Amino acid sequence: MSSSREDRSAAGATLGQALAELEARLFVGREPELAVFGAWLAKAKVSPGLIHVWGPGGSGKSTLLRAFGRMAEASGRPLVFVDGQDVRPEAHELAMALGGATLDAAVERMNAARPVVLIDTFERLVDLTRVLQREVLPHLAAEVRLVIAGRHPLGLAWGPWRQIVRELPLGGLAPAEVREYLSRREIRDTRVVEQAVAAAGGLPLAVSLVSDLVLQHRVRDLAAAPEWHRLVRSLVEQLLHDINNRSCANCSRLVRFYASSTKPRWRPPRTTTTSANRSRSCVSSRSCGRVRMGCSSMTTSVTS
Ligand SMILES: Nc1ncnc2c1ncn2[C@@H]1O[C@H](COP(=O)(O)OP(=O)(O)O)[C@@H](O)[C@H]1O
Ligand SMILES: [Mg+2]
Repeated sequence: MSSSREDRSAAGATLGQALAELEARLFVGREPELAVFGAWLAKAKVSPGLIHVWGPGGSGKSTLLRAFGRMAEASGRPLVFVDGQDVRPEAHELAMALGGATLDAAVERMNAARPVVLIDTFERLVDLTRVLQREVLPHLAAEVRLVIAGRHPLGLAWGPWRQIVRELPLGGLAPAEVREYLSRREIRDTRVVEQAVAAAGGLPLAVSLVSDLVLQHRVRDLAAAPEWHRLVRSLVEQLLHDINNRSCANCSRLVRFYASSTKPRWRPPRTTTTSANRSRSCVSSRSCGRVRMGCSSMTTSVTS
């Protein structure tokens, strides 16, 4: 999508609307999750009454939540949106974010309006888990729909609640979905497309950053672009931050691509052999612990 076309189609809209429209146009995949949400939204009364989206940073949780929000609005449902980045984990702040001076007032208001409630970045609000379970969830009308998104699976603190929660763990985008995304951003050079598909490992954040890089720097060969190496390094660091099995898989792909793409230009420090061996074992290893060690070592040695 060329920026001039984006500009024209967004003419007359606010910047926020233009961004939302652009995001909707670039949204790919997630059909199973959208189908689950759509069916859940259409039912008059549902059990489970809560959807939980989870996955590592950059896996597309916030983007999916906004897609849920668009569906909800299209079906005429009011929206309540809470982002854990903007709210301190205190009952009073949660109440305000949910639309009341107190949690009781917020619940009363939600029961009257029957909104779809989207709580994003829940990993920052985990301290409110008990408050939610005691003071909000048991009192919500069945027509109120609640979606929570966070980086981690629901912990033991959810106990019996887990039986009424529909879990939606987010995997990576499929290669065809990544190609579709790149095509919508008008990235069509076959070599760059396939490099991006292989390197991003389906992680939406990686796909989006690679696209920005290709467009901004008119990159025709990712392996030869110095910015690409910096970008991969920061992505690997982020993936290591949320290490789990899926991010290990992504990490391995990124590191493999990184290793091959830096081979001709990388002048390793004295610790080369050890670092290189570690990164190779990182790629082949299925163990998160070993991946972590290998990737960290590689990142360090490249930085130095
Ligand atoms: N389904 C999708 N289609 C297209 N782009 C996506 C999709 N999901 C995520 N993205 C891109 O990846 C970036 C990171 O996604 P985000 O939703 O912020 O991840 P998270 O909330 O899990 O950290 C977004 O800014 C967006 O550019
Ligand atoms: Mg997010």
